[in-house]
Amino acid sequence: MTEGLKARAEKVLTPALVFHTSITVKKAEGAYVESIDGKRYLDFASGLATTNIGHRHPAVVAAAKEQIEGLIHSGCIFYYDSVVELAERLAEKTPDGIDMFFFSNSGAEAVEGAVKLARHATGRQAIIAFTGSFHGRSTGALALTSSSSRYRKGYHPLLPSVFHAPYPYCYRCPMGRNPDECSIDCLRYLEGIFETLVSPDEVACVVIEPVLGEGGYVVPPIGYMKRLREICTGHGILFVADEVQTGFGRTGRWFACEHFDIRPDIMALAKGIASGFPLSAVASTRRIMSGWSPGAHGTTFGGNPVSCAAACATVDTIEGEGLVDNARRLGEYALERLNELKQRHPSMGDVRGLGLMIGVELVGEGKEPDAGLTRRVLTECEKRGLIVVECGRYKNVVRFMPPLIIKKEEMDEALAIFEEALGSASTG
Ligand SMILES: Cc1ncc(COP(=O)(O)O)c(C=O)c1O
Repeated sequence: MTEGLKARAEKVLTPALVFHTSITVKKAEGAYVESIDGKRYLDFASGLATTNIGHRHPAVVAAAKEQIEGLIHSGCIFYYDSVVELAERLAEKTPDGIDMFFFSNSGAEAVEGAVKLARHATGRQAIIAFTGSFHGRSTGALALTSSSSRYRKGYHPLLPSVFHAPYPYCYRCPMGRNPDECSIDCLRYLEGIFETLVSPDEVACVVIEPVLGEGGYVVPPIGYMKRLREICTGHGILFVADEVQTGFGRTGRWFACEHFDIRPDIMALAKGIASGFPLSAVASTRRIMSGWSPGAHGTTFGGNPVSCAAACATVDTIEGEGLVDNARRLGEYALERLNELKQRHPSMGDVRGLGLMIGVELVGEGKEPDAGLTRRVLTECEKRGLIVVECGRYKNVVRFMPPLIIKKEEMDEALAIFEEALGSASTG
C-alpha cells in the first residue's frame, strides 16, 4: 500500500481488518499481481485460496460481463438460469448423493446454513467441532472456530452446546503421543465427550475441515476420518465437511473428502467456487435438504446471478483445463522439493499438505514454534516478488496456496525464492 492510500485507509477502514501485505495492486492476472509501482509478484496466496483458476480468468470475466448485461440481482423474486445451471453443474462434481444446494455469500454463512440444516434435519441441538478449526466469524460459526482465542475474545457467550474434540495434528499430537504409537486417541477423546458432556443422541452434527486450513494446514490420518464417519453414522449424527478452503480442486481432488473416501452428509462450500465473486453454498443430499421446509432458511443476495455465472465458468475451467490434475501433480512435486529443502534447513520442522494446499512449519530448538522467523520469511519473500501468508495457532506455518493454473517453472521460481528468503531471514 502506498503511504498516501495507507493513511487514507487508516482513517476510514476499521482497524479490525488486517491486510497481509503492504502492496497496492494495479492489476492482477493469472498467477501474478502487479503493484502500482510496477512490481510483479507471484501470488501464492490466491486471495486466501479463492482465485483457484487465477486472477481474472478470461472465461470468468466473459461470463460475468454477459450476465451483467442481463440481470444483476434477483433477491429470490425471479428465477434465472445461472443459479440452476450452477446447481446442476455442482451436483456432477460433489460426492455421490450430494445434489441439492442453498446458495449464500460467504464461508461463514455456508457454515451457519449447514449447522441450521443439521439441527433442522435431526431435531437435535449439540454440535461437535475440532480444536484449531476455523469456520468463520459470524456468531454461530465463531462458536465452532477455535484456531485463536483472539477471534473469540470479547464475544462470549457464543452459541451454546458446541463441544470441541482434538483435531489430529500429528506433528504436535494433542494427546502427547508420537505418530508411531498412535492408536487415534483423539477419537477416544470424542467418545469421552459423549460419556461425560453430551449424549450422542443429542448431537446434530460434527463439523470438520478435511484439511485444517487457518489452523495450520494439517492433514488428518485417513483412519481418523473414516472412523469419525463411522461414529457419526452409528449415532445418527450428520457429518458436515467444511470444504470452504479445501474445495474446488485445491487439494488435488474436486473435494478433499475424496482423499479419505468418505461421503459427508452436508458440505459448506465457498472461496474457490466463483473465482473471487462472493458466493457460497450449503450442499446436501436430497433426503436431508428436502426436509428444509419453505422459509426455514433464506437470503437476499445469496446465489447472485453474476456470482453464479462466474461460478459456472469456474467449474467449466477447472474441468476443461485439467486443473484438479495439475494441482495434484504440482502439489506432489512441491512437497518433494520442500522435503529436500527440509534436509538442509533444520528450521523447517514439518512439511505437509495435499495438492496445492501446502504448509511449512518453522521451528527452533525442540520444535519450538518460530513466529518471528516466519514473519521475516514472509517479508523476505515479498521483497523478492513472492506473496505467501502464514497460518497456524502459533503463526509459524508458511502456507503455499498458488492458483491451480500454476506452471512448473513458476513453482520452481517460488521455491527458489522461499529458500533464499529462509536463508536470509535465518541469518538476518
Ligand atoms: C475452512 C473455512 N471455513 C469457513 C471460512 C469462513 O469463510 P468467510 O471468510 O468467507 O466467511 C474460512 C475462511 O477462511 C475457512 O477457511
